[in-house]
Amino acid sequence: MRGSTEKAPDQRGINRREFLYYGTLSSFGVLIAGSGVASVIYVVPRYEVGQFGGKFVVGKVVDLADGSVTPDREGKFFLVRLGDEFKALYQVCTHLNCLVRETEDGFSCPCHGARFAKDGRLLAGPPPRDMDEFAVEVVEGMVVVDTGRRTKGEKRSV
Ligand code: FES
Repeated sequence: MRGSTEKAPDQRGINRREFLYYGTLSSFGVLIAGSGVASVIYVVPRYEVGQFGGKFVVGKVVDLADGSVTPDREGKFFLVRLGDEFKALYQVCTHLNCLVRETEDGFSCPCHGARFAKDGRLLAGPPPRDMDEFAVEVVEGMVVVDTGRRTKGEKRSV
């Protein structure tokens, strides 16, 4: 017979088997949660400023004249100023992904002859929509283009 220090079954807390069970279970939980967090960190792209997919500081608002077109080769966009509005037009054609070129009155695609207005609107050719645009914001007087946020051009048939 054991001494009087032995506790009743409902007062003992957890036994060794339960401790191992819960310990193993919580270890797997921590392992799975850690793997999930690591996977998310690995999959979510991180870009630096000036790297395609990230943000580009183009210049001061006051230095960009109305009607100006500023190409950015690294960012693959044309920054167009139209009055108080800025548009960052993606240089890749919305037809079959050729690079469009700047013309006197807008842009043209050398592959199949598409023409776009200065605001990116499709004027002629086979593309199904206007030029795509990147998000533009003005931060402390500087124009910043976010090449990670692209909006597809409006569908248009000409
Ligand atoms: Fe530009 Fe076809 S790829 S018109």
